Parts: sequence; C-alpha cells; structure tokens
Amino acid sequence: WGPPSWALLIGYLLGSIPFGIILTRAAGAGDLRSIGSGNIGATNVLRTGRKGLAAATLLLDLLKGAAAVLIVRHWLPGEEVLAAAAAFIGHCYPIWLRFRGGKGVATLMGVVVALYWPLGLVYAVVWLGLLATLRISAVAGMAAAISAPLAAAVMGRFDLVLLLIALALIVVWKHGANIERLMAGTEPRIGRKPRD
Ligand code: G3P
Repeated sequence: WGPPSWALLIGYLLGSIPFGIILTRAAGAGDLRSIGSGNIGATNVLRTGRKGLAAATLLLDLLKGAAAVLIVRHWLPGEEVLAAAAAFIGHCYPIWLRFRGGKGVATLMGVVVALYWPLGLVYAVVWLGLLATLRISAVAGMAAAISAPLAAAVMGRFDLVLLLIALALIVVWKHGANIERLMAGTEPRIGRKPRD
C-alpha cells in the first residue's frame, strides 16, 4: 500500500460519513431519505424544520471534505488532490448507503477551500449569492460547482481544472431530478413548502 492508496482511503472514509442522516436520526427527526427530496444534504435537513440541524449538516459535510485534504496534505504531501476527489466520491457514493449518497455541493466547497482558498471564496460567493437571491438550492449549488473549474482556469491553477470539471459534472449529474423539476417549474424554494 503506497501513499496514493492511503490518500484515497482516508478521503473516501471521511467523505462517506453521512452527517445529514446521522444528525437527523439522532435528533429523532426520522429517516432523511423518506423526507422531501430524499437527499442526505443540508437542504433536505432544512425541510424537517430544524434549522440548527441543517446548519450543522452543512458545516460537517463541508468540514469532512476540507479535513480529508488537510490531513493528507500534512501526512502525505502531494497526494491531497487524490484525497479531495475521494472525499467527494465518498459523499456522493458512500458504501454505507449502498452508494446512494448526496449531491456533493457542501463537500465540494470543503475540498475546494482546502485545496486553494481563493477558489473557495469564489465558490462561496456564487453559492450564497444565488441562494440568497433565487432561493433555489439546486441552482445555487450547480452554479457554484461549475464556477470552480472556471475560476481555477482564470486563476492559473490549471493543475486543478480537470479534476474540478469532473467533480462539477458529477454534481450536475446528481441533480438530475432537480433539473427535471426545474424544467417543470416545480422545484421548491428554500423556506417555502414544496409543491410536489
Ligand atoms: O446540495 C443539494 C442541493 O443542491 C439540492 O438538494 O434536497 O433540494 O435535492 P435537494
């Protein structure tokens, strides 16, 4: 087992911790997968009516991505990009949930911040800016994910561009049901009751 394998394992194991499900269950708010969109992320935790739980899910899903990068950068310098990819994949495809995980928006923010913080700043501005104005989590999340490779190219971080394109494509792929609802005009806005 060489350093790349350890980086992948550490990243995947951290990324695959389903904080949304753990916190919701611990708070006695039921199984997140049978609520709202069925997704395991903070947006869906918000639909349980527990704002604190949603904020904690957002923070922990973000921190696990950042932690994977920072831990691997410290112990296995040079392998952190692998850890970033593995943490993201762990969140989206966790073995514990038969590979049916989240949509990756918060965890991607965490890995992006830890890989190169100016990129994280762009990501946060796009994400929070659109969330505050449109109040549609899926649109804000997808736009933030797409902004990451674009910002990396503009900032001259060409070493990160291909990885970020791949991860952004997975984020969009994971939002298939949201895209269908957006086209049908039925995607719920944050803070309002879902129409479907
Ligand atoms: O990060 C997930 C978000 O973009 C969409 O979540 O529950 O509305 O499908 P949800």
